[in-house]
Amino acid sequence: DWNSANVIEEQVERIRAQVGSSRVIAGLSGGVDSAVAAALVHKAVGDQLTCVFVDHGLLRADERKQVEEDYVASTGVRLVTVDAREQFLDALAGVSDPEQKRKIIGREFIRTFEAAAEALVLEARASDGDAEVKFLVQGTLYPDVVESGGGSGTANIKSHHNVGGLPDDMTFQLVEPLRTLFKDEVRAVGRELGLPEVIVGRQPFPGPGLGIRIVGEVTAERLEILRAADAIARAELTAAGLDDEIWQCPVVLLADVRSVGVQGDGRTYGHPIVLRPVSSEDAMTADWTRLPYDVLAKISNRITNEVRDVNRVVLDVTSKPPGTIEWE
Ligand code: XMP
Repeated sequence: DWNSANVIEEQVERIRAQVGSSRVIAGLSGGVDSAVAAALVHKAVGDQLTCVFVDHGLLRADERKQVEEDYVASTGVRLVTVDAREQFLDALAGVSDPEQKRKIIGREFIRTFEAAAEALVLEARASDGDAEVKFLVQGTLYPDVVESGGGSGTANIKSHHNVGGLPDDMTFQLVEPLRTLFKDEVRAVGRELGLPEVIVGRQPFPGPGLGIRIVGEVTAERLEILRAADAIARAELTAAGLDDEIWQCPVVLLADVRSVGVQGDGRTYGHPIVLRPVSSEDAMTADWTRLPYDVLAKISNRITNEVRDVNRVVLDVTSKPPGTIEWE
């Protein structure tokens, strides 16, 4: 019979047996899987683990704080945050095509993570010649294992940075403590480990973040607008007790579209915000969620009153298929 305390005990033993006295790196995304995987490894091997969190500037309001403060306070992990906001904005400048945005964000993310990993390998050597960083934590779940045919084991990290004394290809063995678990089991384990509910209960959020929720070029100003609108929508959905009814609710800024409005003293020419609440079992198919009108009205009023340059809020009433959940 399944219970999260047993899973934790069993995984802690396995991780200790696998890792020995080596050092371990874990990337945190702010999401459930990476957070629970790293917390399990930390419970097993303590400060042999270092977590790396890349702030690519495409995060939602408070997500960095939730990792740096709430997650660290509840686990005690050693955390290195890489502030790569400028780097990502520079790389995305002038780019509107969704696939190109995804490629750029993925590429910059890997570069940034690799550089952080290299720095940790060097630091470990400098501080203690025997301290090898041999392992990388991955939050692979059971459905991912099944989908990909089950094979995994090592990850290569190429070094682009010509740092003296490092092998050209750093190879890490993978630590995957969630490989036998489904999502709801991962959440149960996270709660048993005492992780913050904002992380453990988080709805899906795409890796490329707000970068694929701005239709048009990604700029610092547009990110600020979208982040503010998204925070309002999420707060109102939570306040209305609707978090369990929706799978997720992307909030999208149509940055390349303008429409006329009348706000305050006069005519405005602003951007629409799209609400995309969906109900789903697995994100493969989805239906739009019939949110109560009063909740929609509250969100719309607040966004148009509180967020600059937004003068219209529209509701996406498309199922998947034909629409994807995200707009890009
Ligand atoms: P779509 O838009 O394809 O999304 O219907 C299905 C689910 O996947 C999420 N999604 C992503 N997650 N990296 C991710 O980690 C991505 O590039 C990505 N694109 C979409 C989306 O939020 C939804 O839950």
